[in-house]
Amino acid sequence: MIGGAEIKPILVVNVADSYWGSSRRPGAMLRVMKALNKRVSEEIRNIVLEAVREHPEHAFHVTSNLNWHRYEKQIEQVATTLPHGRILDVGCGLGHTASMLAACRPDLQIVGVDVADWQSWVKLAKHGPRFLICDALALPFRNEFDAVISFGVMEHTGDEDRFLRQVNSVLRAGGNMIIFNLPNRYALSEAAARVMNIWHHDRTYTRERIVGLVQGAGFSVVNMKRESLVPAQVDRISESLSSLFNRYYLQLDRMDSWLTRPPLSIFAENWTIYAGKP
Ligand SMILES: C[S@@+](CC[C@H](N)C(=O)[O-])C[C@H]1O[C@@H](n2cnc3c(N)ncnc32)[C@H](O)[C@@H]1O
Repeated sequence: MIGGAEIKPILVVNVADSYWGSSRRPGAMLRVMKALNKRVSEEIRNIVLEAVREHPEHAFHVTSNLNWHRYEKQIEQVATTLPHGRILDVGCGLGHTASMLAACRPDLQIVGVDVADWQSWVKLAKHGPRFLICDALALPFRNEFDAVISFGVMEHTGDEDRFLRQVNSVLRAGGNMIIFNLPNRYALSEAAARVMNIWHHDRTYTRERIVGLVQGAGFSVVNMKRESLVPAQVDRISESLSSLFNRYYLQLDRMDSWLTRPPLSIFAENWTIYAGKP
């Protein structure tokens, strides 16, 4: 029982082959995973919403139903992909991704780190992860994690090369890195935000730049894909658009899956990168 809700263990066939290729299969072919229970996900979401209540302008990523739904899907992807062992969530922010992963993979030892200290960590620790304040550019670990996950962080550190080298140094040989939500240089949403003079990322990335950075830090790039053509952060445009998006987020998500294919995917918001430490 987690959060009062029963979670039924399900057997998951390793879908990782589609991401990692048959020569880089992280772990056994079959493993037990718990589906991310809606109630647990909402419990985690309420804890982080409470932590950002006084800063709603910095909370779109957890207030947007579409964005939260994307986290849930990303975590399910990670949960079915990763082997057993120790996982580091670099730049974990409020701690929701580490906690959601712990909820569906209680076998994993999960550590979340961030330069900022978040009050949500105390309540989220009951879901399993440990949280630590530390700089991603000076991680206090060596060769000890089986995987590193990171959601929307590298572009904010100011030094991508150092970030990736640090991640490489904390992984054991054969370990995996998954980076989510890295801004795409050609994202329609970034271009629109620049034109509208609202918040946008200073650093955005092309495929070539990412491959150069990731390989330069000692990884082999296993797979890269662009995700999310439909933007989730519409609260920056208008409140009514934001409530419309919150109401129809499942339909928007279905439309997004349909739209985010070549050639339109060139303009998607983010990159997801799967890489391995040889
Ligand atoms: C866009 S937020 C993403 C947070 C979280 N991963 C999520 O998806 O909600 C970027 C995070 O990176 C963290 N961050 C930025 N620079 C960092 C650094 N040098 N070391 C560790 N964390 C850093 C910030 O404190 C912030 O929590």
